[in-house]
Amino acid sequence: MPESITITDNRTGESIEVPIVEGGVDAAAWRKLLPNVWFLDPSFSTTAATTSAISEVDGENGILRYRGYPIEQLAEHSTFLEVAYLLLYGELPTSGEYDVWVHEITHHTFIHERFRKRFMESFLHDAHPMGMFVSTIAALSTFYPEAKDIEDPENRMHQIVRLIAKVPTVAAAGFRFNTGMPFVYPDNNLDFATNFLSMMFKIAEPTYQCDPAFARALDLLLITHADHGQNCSTSTARVVGSAHTDPYSVISAAACSLYGPRHGGANQAVMEMLYDIGSYENIDPFIKAVKAGETRLMGFGHRVYKNYDPRARIIKQAAYDVFEVTGSNPLLDIALKLEEVALADDYFVSRRLYPNVDFYSGLIYQSMGFPTDMFTVLFAIARTAGWLAHWVELLEQDSRIARPRQVYTGSQERTYTPINQRS
Ligand code: CMC
Repeated sequence: MPESITITDNRTGESIEVPIVEGGVDAAAWRKLLPNVWFLDPSFSTTAATTSAISEVDGENGILRYRGYPIEQLAEHSTFLEVAYLLLYGELPTSGEYDVWVHEITHHTFIHERFRKRFMESFLHDAHPMGMFVSTIAALSTFYPEAKDIEDPENRMHQIVRLIAKVPTVAAAGFRFNTGMPFVYPDNNLDFATNFLSMMFKIAEPTYQCDPAFARALDLLLITHADHGQNCSTSTARVVGSAHTDPYSVISAAACSLYGPRHGGANQAVMEMLYDIGSYENIDPFIKAVKAGETRLMGFGHRVYKNYDPRARIIKQAAYDVFEVTGSNPLLDIALKLEEVALADDYFVSRRLYPNVDFYSGLIYQSMGFPTDMFTVLFAIARTAGWLAHWVELLEQDSRIARPRQVYTGSQERTYTPINQRS
């Protein structure tokens, strides 16, 4: 059987055979046979916008791999910084490469003092930390104007190190400002996750210390959120990057996509939903409302996964590890019951709606002391590594600007009417 498809234009009888390569067909053949007939796919459900060698998401079978390595193995053996290296360079580092990488990231964590004081502290005291995050990352481009030279790979890597190193500092600075707490400078003696927890939660102790289970759980959450194919925010990064915009603006734009409740904002929405449900007896009426289309079961469903999201399984286990230290989170019982009820209900089964990465992550964050509106910021810290890997891949593979077509459905040509003649 030939690995190809045939497209026939029934208006002319002309046909063209297009090979299927790696599960895709080249749209250039379509364009050649059917000029000005556009493939209408508003949410990109059927359109591959690029080839990519970074992460593989097999939604039918519930599989996620970074550069070929199963997420389960990375979650068990790796660290977030090693995973970031893997995503960016395509290979796991040797121990020498890893040490240099960790040193580089660790020594770029500071942000300009005046920038933090004058810029970040000009937000309202209750500004959403994600709003502060996206604005601050965009504003960093003004501090590093050389970042505009995106053609130079060495310069690119320098900005990448800065971004991965500084996003936790920016995130924590926003939180401290919100809570009226003094800013905590990065501590170069701590690992990536512990340093972030220190910048968030340190009070007066000389060196921040936390239960290793917390740092490990946070690192695990960063690993599982680091990349995920051409999701909404990564696609945003690629579209903005295709205009040859500087990387700070690219990452800020991607983070804006992540901000939405259908994407990275879902973990906050899950917690709000669990609070609203509040007790077991409210689960059935809530599920009824979901089935009537009045609301959605947040943390359930995914455009790609039509099976259990492998990240949700890892995070559910991590939740138990954290709760061993903190004691159980009462909302966990409601989440577990919701999952049980939904997975036994034909509405969810027939639509293949399963828990996604956000269903359990918020419970861990909350137990560790993160306020709900920081959850999406945590997601952004992790995904910065993936966004940057896609940005580099894009610049190395393609120099054309992203420019989708549209199927125009508006008025045909008409003549302008002066305002005093309009009814
Ligand atoms: N609760 C109830 N019904 C749902 C849900 C849900 N969470 N998700 C999808 N459906 C229904 C939807 O109503 C539709 O039913 P019908 O065919 O009768 O109209 C059907 O399932 C297909 O839904 P869809 O909206 O076409 O699916 P999509 O691929 O466009 O949306 C999604 C994917 C993730 C936006 C959606 O499942 C959703 O809104 N989930 C809740 C929000 C959430 O948890 N988001 C986090 C996603 S994972 C993290 C990330 O990647 O950022």
